[in-house]
Amino acid sequence: MSAEPSLTRRSVLRASTAATGAACALALAGCSGGAPADSKEAGGAASPSPSAVPSGGAPVRVGKVTDVPVGQSATGTANGVNVLVFRPDAKTVLAYNAKCTHAGCAVGAQGAQFVCPCHGSTFNASDGTVVVGPAKQPLERYAAAIDGDWITVSV
Ligand code: FES
Repeated sequence: MSAEPSLTRRSVLRASTAATGAACALALAGCSGGAPADSKEAGGAASPSPSAVPSGGAPVRVGKVTDVPVGQSATGTANGVNVLVFRPDAKTVLAYNAKCTHAGCAVGAQGAQFVCPCHGSTFNASDGTVVVGPAKQPLERYAAAIDGDWITVSV
């Protein structure tokens, strides 16, 4: 195992995977800039329903539970994928792909919402649905869990 990762809401962290030891990182807020689009262009309608939670791969440690207070969210990476994590209560953690469904920018974490800096799409952190467009589709969900002191995400 590598050095223990720690999760803060404002700084980048390092973590190791539960299964492979590969590195990943987490942080809160901010955006790493735009990425090439491969998603559908949208006009502003809210997403109709959250995406289903896939079974995903092996759980990856993305940070410590204590680093994400209840009601807060954070960004990070799991196996090279940018993820958003939200902790709605003491025993639950939710995870999403941070790639905006509008045009592919990296969505940031802001408390109980995720906000895209490129065109302002806002997503509900509780289910990934669109609160404010132009995105129309919800964020892609990932399976997430609290495993002892750790938040794990299966991508
Ligand atoms: Fe346009 Fe996110 S890329 S709102």
